Amino acid sequence: MTGRPDQGENTRAVGLPTGPAPAERPLRMPVHRSTTYAFATSREYADVLDGGREGYSYARIDNPTSEAFARALAAMEGRGLDSEVRGQAFTSGMAAISTTLLALTSVGAHVVAARSIYGNTYSLLDGLLRRFGVSTDFVDITDLDAVRAAVRPETAVIFTETLSNPTMTVSDIPGLAEIAAEAGAVLVVDSTFASPAVCRPLEHGADLVLHSATKYIGGHSDATGGAVAGRPALVDAIRAARIDLGPCLAPDEAFLLHRGLETLPLRVARQCASAAEFAAAVAEHPAVARVDYPGLPGHQGHKLAGQLFDPGRYGAVVTVTPHGGRAAGMAFADGLRVATVAASLGGTHTLAGHVGSSTHRQMSDEALEAAGIGPAAVRFSIGVEDPADLIEDALSALDRCTSDG
Ligand SMILES: Cc1ncc(COP(=O)(O)O)c(C=O)c1O
Repeated sequence: MTGRPDQGENTRAVGLPTGPAPAERPLRMPVHRSTTYAFATSREYADVLDGGREGYSYARIDNPTSEAFARALAAMEGRGLDSEVRGQAFTSGMAAISTTLLALTSVGAHVVAARSIYGNTYSLLDGLLRRFGVSTDFVDITDLDAVRAAVRPETAVIFTETLSNPTMTVSDIPGLAEIAAEAGAVLVVDSTFASPAVCRPLEHGADLVLHSATKYIGGHSDATGGAVAGRPALVDAIRAARIDLGPCLAPDEAFLLHRGLETLPLRVARQCASAAEFAAAVAEHPAVARVDYPGLPGHQGHKLAGQLFDPGRYGAVVTVTPHGGRAAGMAFADGLRVATVAASLGGTHTLAGHVGSSTHRQMSDEALEAAGIGPAAVRFSIGVEDPADLIEDALSALDRCTSDG
């Protein structure tokens, strides 16, 4: 309500004009920070709340900037599909995962999940959800017979990742989709390590695709968010759970993530090409015992990636395992000068981390070996720097850790 000259100064201050609303379409999605919206009548307000009329009422329910990001991501993930793909945005990748799992399960439900999934997804399934009566069997997701054997009548969800950390194992999404369809379960794929610029799981039969948008989608290590996309009925049920639980993506973060999508294919194409060059060059060094990268012909997922991923793109995470134990891996990471030792992945900077003392620090050497991870493994998230500099950096660090004994 606009203030009048006969009103007091505070009433007038609160009523100062908020316009103008430009008639021209802004090229970028504006940041809508208002947490609430004004209605001309109580009837209109009630109609928006009831869903009888499209509109915005309150920021936790819907926000135009966050919705623009969710729609843009859904359009990317559904690029090759004729059917409608809808999206929802969240405060983090874990918010997207936890809200989705809560929306899809209830007491007595069963989940079949990849044994190698992200640590907090594992603890969510193995801890919190178990307390609420949802049980999970963790299986080797590359073994479709093991997945089929684990499925029960009460299996509500099969959960996997397009590419798993840190070995970059590739999931057979069409094979898993067939098992899920036979079982009447929902196939949920966390595609954080791939991004829609490498693989779009919905095109290969997944029911829902999830992201930590904090990684490739934001792409600059400066925004935290998550997203889910899939068919409308499933995504609407997840939206209802999101409204009850509350992890709505803030508009400033949504703006950054929406902007990130614009350069996602450019960045990821470059990062994938550099990662392929990096993996091939580093694998030649005598101090290296093993390199995990699906672009290398000997990798478990090379053939599958060729079928499911965009041509020539195998992701941009490369795990390099020097000979030796944990100390050798840590010395290798500490000897890097271009790559930075840091958590996370998917940004413009190349980041490196010794796996056994960071993302997988709870695991003993034996447990790491059982998961196919060497105690000296160092995970690289390849950024947008010049690949020759990244290669020289890694080779020098390997030389140094060899000469140091
Ligand atoms: C594969 C995967 N999924 C989910 C997450 C969680 O994302 P966030 O940190 O945005 O909650 C991560 C974070 O590293 C991840 O690597």
